[in-house]
Amino acid sequence: MSGTAVVTGAASGLGRAIARRFAKEGIKVALWDVDLAGAKRVGEEIGTLATPFAVDITNTAVVGATWAATKAALGTPSILVNSAGILGPSAGIASYPEEQWHRVLDINLNGTFRCCQAAVPDMVAGGYGRIVNIASIAGKDGNPNVAAYVASKAAVIALTKSMGKELATSGVLVNAISPSASETAIFGDLTDERRAKLLANVPMARMVRPEEVAELAFWLASPACSFSTGATFDISGGRATY
Ligand SMILES: NC(=O)c1ccc[n+]([C@@H]2O[C@H](COP(=O)([O-])OP(=O)(O)OC[C@H]3O[C@@H](n4cnc5c(N)ncnc54)[C@H](O)[C@@H]3O)[C@@H](O)[C@H]2O)c1
Repeated sequence: MSGTAVVTGAASGLGRAIARRFAKEGIKVALWDVDLAGAKRVGEEIGTLATPFAVDITNTAVVGATWAATKAALGTPSILVNSAGILGPSAGIASYPEEQWHRVLDINLNGTFRCCQAAVPDMVAGGYGRIVNIASIAGKDGNPNVAAYVASKAAVIALTKSMGKELATSGVLVNAISPSASETAIFGDLTDERRAKLLANVPMARMVRPEEVAELAFWLASPACSFSTGATFDISGGRATY
């Protein structure tokens, strides 16, 4: 496969694994991340198919300018994967800090919206595109003490449904992935107690590997995915029952 993909959050975790998977297929990858040093490290791992870009997805003008810069450098992307995200603080709803509520929503939900808004006009004009939004099982099930995260991920699932229907005849397919826990930087240092809690609801009793999420993302980003849009694909070791 050829072409160009934008992967946000590509400096780490799931985004890094997805970028590596795409490059394995010969796809040029734009590594979008606020952590430029991290994106450069991943770029060195991948080699010539990867180009790092410093981009904070909370800034609409920067997202638009980086889309234009990516087009100029690598050709118009036909794939966008929205993986950049944060967990935010762990706190009960009564004490959840409001500014952190806004921060989590602004990255996880509004950032995804901004990147989609930058990508969709070119994809529609070209009559083809694949957008993959990384949501979370938390957005379907809920998790205690991370209300902003859960709300943001439920909203990403809803955004995906809306865009899928809106763009259904345009050639641009929009789907989401809802992984269960994966041991990435998003959790910081995991204690054994926290790890046990994260695994308590997972029938397969292990974390999902970033490479497993990348495999699903690759299929959703490929022409082989041709009759699914607005859908959320489970990768939760049997946790999800719907
Ligand atoms: N790890 C899990 O257990 C898990 C489970 C379900 C869903 N997810 C989702 O998967 C996605 C990737 O998470 P991860 O586990 O790889 O986390 P991670 O912390 O390893 O990677 C997230 C990346 O996003 C980048 N980022 C954060 N804010 C940004 C901003 N404003 N602009 C640009 N980049 C920004 C970070 O620099 C980092 O490189 C997230 O959306 C997360 O919610 C993760």
